[in-house]
This record gives sequence, C-alpha cells and structure tokens, in this order.
Amino acid sequence: MKVYVFKDHTALSRYAAERVIEQVKQKPTSNLGLATGSTPMELYSMLVAATQAGEVSFKAVRTYNLDEYLGLGADHHQSYAYFMQKNLFDGIDILPENTHVPVGVDDISQAAVSYEALLRDSGGIDLQILGLGANGHIGFNEPGPELSNQTFKVTLDEVTRIDNARFFNHLDEVPREAITMGVGSIMRAEKILLMASGSGKADAIYKTVAGPITTQVPASLLQLHRDITVLLDEAAAAQLDPQFYTRR
Ligand code: F6R
Repeated sequence: MKVYVFKDHTALSRYAAERVIEQVKQKPTSNLGLATGSTPMELYSMLVAATQAGEVSFKAVRTYNLDEYLGLGADHHQSYAYFMQKNLFDGIDILPENTHVPVGVDDISQAAVSYEALLRDSGGIDLQILGLGANGHIGFNEPGPELSNQTFKVTLDEVTRIDNARFFNHLDEVPREAITMGVGSIMRAEKILLMASGSGKADAIYKTVAGPITTQVPASLLQLHRDITVLLDEAAAAQLDPQFYTRR
C-alpha cells in the first residue's frame, strides 16, 4: 500500500482527479470503478470542470459503480444512480449507455449475477475509486465472519445506516439492504485509489493500513492488492505512525 497524506480534502481530491485524468488520457477506453458518498464529491466536480475545460474526454470510458440501495429506483433522490447522474454523469461527456450502477430493485439475486457477469465481460476495471466506511467497509461489504468474492445482496450494518441517515429525513427511511460488488470484485481492479477524510475515519484507516488482515475490517484485505494508493487528509491519518505514509 502506498499511503499519501495531504493537507486537506481538496488537495487529496485534486491528486485523485489527476490520477483519473491521466488514466483516461493514457487509455481512452478505460473502465472506471466508482463510489458514491461524501468523499468523492469534490473529485467528481473536478472531473466535471476538467471536461468542461476540454482537458479530458470520457466519450469512450465505461463506468461501474460499487453499490446501490435495495428498493430505491434510479429516480429516487437518495439512490446512487441518481447521485451519479447529478454529481458526475450530467457534467461530463460520457455516453449514458456506458454508465453502470447495480440495480437495487426487482430480483436482486439475479441482478447481482448479471452485474458480476457485466464486470467480467468488461475486461476488468482499470482504476477503482473507493471511499471507506467508519466501520471499515468498502462498497457495502460490511464487517462479519466472511466476505464475498462477487456482487451480492447485503444486509447493511446499523453503523452504516446511522452514518448514512444524514442523507435521509429519518433513520427509518434508510434501506436495510443493498446490492454491492464483493471484496473479490474490488480486488480484481488493476489499480485502486482509496480516499478517506476526517477524524471519523481515523480508526478505520488505522485498522485498514496498520492492523491485521481480517474480515472484521473489510478494507484491511486491500493490504494484499498489488497497486493501491490510500489518499488521506491529516485528520484521517491522525492515528497512523508516520512510518506508514508519505506527506504530499
Ligand atoms: C459508496 C460506498 C461506501 C462509501 C463509504 C464512505 O458507494 O461504496 O463504501 O464509500 O460509506 O462514505 P462517505 O464518503 O459518505 O463517508
């Protein structure tokens, strides 16, 4: 794991944006793996700005999102499909048919099998963007006795539901289940950027980077990936011994 600590969230988002732009310039037909949530929002607005400035084009890029809530259709304003449309896809020149978000409605078991097949047939993800849950989750792979090798239906951890309640009117509205790429699906990406900011992520970052590899901290499995860069702000890096990171 390469671990870089930046002065703030904007600086780490800028580094991530440069990496995405470089990836797309080097391989215009790149497959990008994408996350939702607060963490990548600034990265996405930087990609929108770079597209509008003519610095990069996503015309031949295909995207694959990590996860989606069960029961929220693409037009629901808290669905991840809606989030991606609003925060990224509407502002870049990507073709709608090249964007993929798992479908959290209908027959989820079938949707999971289809999504995993789609990932396999895509030729693989070139660059995967990840955020980190306060409980160490990646995608919606929650801590537990085992992790999944492929896309599956998951029951959300209460910690995750409480964290994500900030996006809803009430905790009761936060779905209890979701569809998510498995840790195996994530680990098959060529390159990974894991982004984390703020003191709420410091404990999870300590366990991810410096702790034992355990299914109780799904992100700790990333220690085994051959090309992962962890991007942190000062607050998220607060519990890490400086031997684990480089300042940027
Ligand atoms: C979202 C996802 C989640 C989030 C994580 C952090 O697609 O897969 O793993 O990345 O919950 O969320 P934020 O960025 O809102 O702190």
